[in-house]
Amino acid sequence: MQVDTGFTFVLFGGTGDLAMRKILPGLYQAHRGGLLPAAGRIIAVARGFGNREAYLQWMHTHVRNHIKPDGDDPLWNDFLNRILFVRVDLGQPEDYALLRDAISQLSGIRVFYLATRPSLFVPICRALSIIGLSDGARIVLEKPLGYDLQSSKAINNAVGEIFVESHIYRIDHYLGKEPVQNLLALRFGNTLLEPLWRREWVESIQITIAEELGVEGRGDFYDSTGALRDMVQNHLLQLLSIVAMEPPHSMHTDSLRDEKLRVLRALKPIEPGAVSRVAVRGQYHTGVLKGVAVPAYITEQGVSASSTTETFVALKVEIENWRWAGVPFFLRTGKRLADRVAEIVVNFRAVPHSVFDSMALRNSSNRLVIRLQPNESIRLYGLAKQPGEGMNLQSVHLDLAFDKFFKEERMEAYQRLLLDVINGRLALFVHRDEQEAAWRWVEPILTEWTRLGTVPKRYAAGTWGPAAASALLAQHGTCWLEEEN
Ligand code: BG6
Repeated sequence: MQVDTGFTFVLFGGTGDLAMRKILPGLYQAHRGGLLPAAGRIIAVARGFGNREAYLQWMHTHVRNHIKPDGDDPLWNDFLNRILFVRVDLGQPEDYALLRDAISQLSGIRVFYLATRPSLFVPICRALSIIGLSDGARIVLEKPLGYDLQSSKAINNAVGEIFVESHIYRIDHYLGKEPVQNLLALRFGNTLLEPLWRREWVESIQITIAEELGVEGRGDFYDSTGALRDMVQNHLLQLLSIVAMEPPHSMHTDSLRDEKLRVLRALKPIEPGAVSRVAVRGQYHTGVLKGVAVPAYITEQGVSASSTTETFVALKVEIENWRWAGVPFFLRTGKRLADRVAEIVVNFRAVPHSVFDSMALRNSSNRLVIRLQPNESIRLYGLAKQPGEGMNLQSVHLDLAFDKFFKEERMEAYQRLLLDVINGRLALFVHRDEQEAAWRWVEPILTEWTRLGTVPKRYAAGTWGPAAASALLAQHGTCWLEEEN
């Protein structure tokens, strides 16, 4: 339900990459769709511009080209009317008084969106509290929230002294993606799959987020982060928790988050001695991606020439509960891989006894492939008899392509999440406990890599990662599903 009072949305990091590519376009789309209350205002905070006119000019040249479809002029100009600008040097507490003056002219709920370096989260929250702006306000924290369990706890503790948990919106943009929401619909809106969704019927599950992109000008950040922190601790573990969770009591915030948390807490801890058996670290080297030569990671801008940061991770994960005991979940993510794809593959167990003498039966099992991006689809694979003489079986699939059913324009993840913040809906944001449980599970891997000085295995850009990632699955008699499209 749309709020009918106004809102004041304060965007810290107003000229940053995220503001430019995702946040301002997301707000614009919400405006274009008539989903923002008329009285809502957006205050961009940055120190790079002298005044509002200069900021609006920057928006014209830098934000507009990230809007799809290209906004028509009246709506774009109308959107610009919502924008105010306050020049604040975030390190200067006295500058925040300017912000307070601007906010005091406006009505409705207050949202502070921190699209800044995480090291600024606590100083900004404290400054907001000192000038009396934090009471009743909502705060949005972008990832990465910390570097490890300890630093993430430190941020959560400090922010938690100022804002109550129910006003803290930790973003994981994967939760705002339409297909991820659809995963909830598929699992909990249908009876069909639920009886099969367990160890008795499922042999293994794969979750892949593969990117063609490299580090895209974020070399500095990425080189001190790596794929485990950038993608596994958050997006992949969130997807895993949605795939594996028990049916929630309702779609309300606490029910959903509690069930995801139970999964994260049930992840089988990885003992130090087991890390090298269940975790593969990779780094891309030169290669050819879709016909174009791409450079090695270590030659990217901002990356150290001797970097041992991973740009690829593959993991075997187990969940210690009755539903999933003994079922391996294979997670994989990487940059500069052969294709951009995010998908979940549920491999079902083989038939207990084969009555057919068919190679097809030996080589392929029933499986469900849920593709999240670039296109959204669900495919159910099975075997059918080839027409003609003899009893030859062949793999076929039922195909549900969502764009055939739903012609509507899809809402971008950020647009959905921004509207949720403005409307006070927390369900698609990460609770502190989830975040810390994820860090707790991931951290031993990082510690062990550091202790052993594990150097990432090289893979050529444009491939599916190092051979060790395939070997990880081969030990379990399976392989990554890569050929679908
Ligand atoms: C971000 C990571 O959280 O997710 C990026 O920091 C990554 O490194 C991005 O490229 C992937 O998101 P998407 O929506 O493009 O799959």
